[in-house]
Amino acid sequence: MPYDTHPDPADPTAGLPPTFRWGVATSAYQIEGAVDEDGRTPSIWDTFCQREGAVADGDDGTVACDHYHRMPQDVALISDLGVDTYRFSVSWPRVQPGGRGPVNPRGVAFYDRLVDELLGAGVDPWVTLYHWDLPQELQDAGGWPERDTAYRFADYAMLVLDRLGDRVDTWTTLNEPWVSAWMGHVTGEHAPGWRDLQAGVDAVHHLLLGHGLATRRMRAAAPRPLRFGITLNLSTIDPATDTEPDRAAARRAEGLATRIYLDPLRHGRYPDDVLADLGSRRVAPPVRNGDLEIISAPLDVLGVNYYFGQVFAGTDEAGRTTDADGAPVTRYVEQDGPRTAMGWPINPERLTELLVRTARDYPGLPIVITENGAAFHDVADDDGFVRDEDRADFLARHIAAVAAAHRRGVDVRGYFAWSLMDNFEWAFGYGRRFGLVRVDYDTQRRTPKLSARWFGDTVRTFRARGDAAEVARSAGAP
Ligand code: FCB
Repeated sequence: MPYDTHPDPADPTAGLPPTFRWGVATSAYQIEGAVDEDGRTPSIWDTFCQREGAVADGDDGTVACDHYHRMPQDVALISDLGVDTYRFSVSWPRVQPGGRGPVNPRGVAFYDRLVDELLGAGVDPWVTLYHWDLPQELQDAGGWPERDTAYRFADYAMLVLDRLGDRVDTWTTLNEPWVSAWMGHVTGEHAPGWRDLQAGVDAVHHLLLGHGLATRRMRAAAPRPLRFGITLNLSTIDPATDTEPDRAAARRAEGLATRIYLDPLRHGRYPDDVLADLGSRRVAPPVRNGDLEIISAPLDVLGVNYYFGQVFAGTDEAGRTTDADGAPVTRYVEQDGPRTAMGWPINPERLTELLVRTARDYPGLPIVITENGAAFHDVADDDGFVRDEDRADFLARHIAAVAAAHRRGVDVRGYFAWSLMDNFEWAFGYGRRFGLVRVDYDTQRRTPKLSARWFGDTVRTFRARGDAAEVARSAGAP
């Protein structure tokens, strides 16, 4: 597909505005460890990790990066990178054990200290309230397929706002509800490991409802003007060929991956074609009167997590357009070309296209790339140093793709690398490393990789350019 602008990895930030935000991201369960300290109760991920075969090598988050005990050192690493923003998530079962009732003072104190440490280092805290670690007690009461969980989430959000709202400016309700709903309840690859389409669609609706309830209540109670948003994992979803079955397959896949979230959030309705597709499988979202108005509460920012573009076909390998149950085939098609250690294709130009499409279809919403990064097969030298030119190149190309989207008029305001450091990569365990900083899990030693140096240099060069422009402007230059 032709593009009118091409990424320039040699100067990837060219053209981005001086106010552009640079950050790194993590999530609680992936780094904190300390799963039974200071009153924390189990989450669905603690439970899921114990299930035979659920996580590679039987790994779990019991220790992870031991960030709970090493937080000041980790904040120093963030500050050394020179980024201005740190996106982290709050562990619900740490702050409100069991998912109901009062705040746990010892649990929330950790985030209190983290926020102070960040602000002291000149780094803006960017909070995600839910990055997949539902308290197990709420799962036992039905989890996200149960409507009450949405109300519990809003209560929990208010507890965190009450404690951190004086210092945290940007609040993300959910990280990637598609992953919670679909991988958690339909494919069963993530906690809680169900395989039930109706439960997955119930979860979609209650996650969105929880987002809307929390956003409304937090905005009404905010002690000062704060920014509220949600983070979605978005991808370009294209047909393998221009045939009618392939185009219909891409439409169905995009419906369930993107539009089932963004249409209710932005337009206050589920897309008709998605409802029809689900209806043909006797499944429907459990919408009650007023829900969609709550879900479409105003947003200040859309977080986009981008990893790779996707292609779908409407025929199986034998060319059939329906499966054994008579349902239309919607087949993910592997693309040729370079891949990461996750097996994900590397196609930064799709990020430009994704941003352009998202801004076109859902206008009026500033976008921040809240995650982008790659796992590679890192090799550390004797000092623990990793010369990960592949990762630096990946970041450069994707940042350039963001700049290209900005040149095409997309209101994109920030880019956060996933991840600050190697961590627990969900069902892949510790075997996949996404960090800019290497973690030696035997010693918990952290060693910034080449990509960390590259990212830091890039951010510093970008800032220096902005500063130079500012000086020129104040000196009266045009
Ligand atoms: C995203 C998740 C994040 C991390 C990256 C690789 O889907 O939000 O926690 O696992 O993928």
